[in-house]
Amino acid sequence: MLKRLLLMALFVGILSFPAYGGDAGEDIYKTYCWNCHGIDGFAEIPDVIPSFAKGERLYKPDVMLFYSIWNGTKGRVLPMPAWKDRLSEEEVWQVIRYIRATFGRHSTQEAVR
Ligand code: HEC
Repeated sequence: MLKRLLLMALFVGILSFPAYGGDAGEDIYKTYCWNCHGIDGFAEIPDVIPSFAKGERLYKPDVMLFYSIWNGTKGRVLPMPAWKDRLSEEEVWQVIRYIRATFGRHSTQEAVR
């Protein structure tokens, strides 16, 4: 009986895994990026860290965002850390897709496009 329950739990666990994990880009953002860029896209230090919810920097094409995330930037006041040692290329594209889907539409530049 116990064994059957365990097997069932395992089966249900496997079936629900993709739904549970949610959006990969969202997971990455909410693990590595939110503590500076804000869970809701309003940066912890306005005007120093870009607020994606205000569309800041989102006028840049995806490849430039990729380059900045991959290599980091010096920044005027604070640097943006490089993520190439912690994220795969695919993961960086996933987090860019999340940022675009979540905050991209608030960008004034996006609205003009
Ligand atoms: C330690 C704080 C910190 C963390 C964590 C952080 N960032 Fe940043 N990020 C910054 C700062 C500061 C800047 C602005 C740097 C500058 O002016 O060039 C920035 C800039 C950016 C930009 C704009 C780059 C450009 O070319 O203008 C993007 C996109 C970005 N971050 C994405 C991310 C993503 C995605 C993550 C998570 C994987 C992340 N950031 C994590 C601090 C952070």
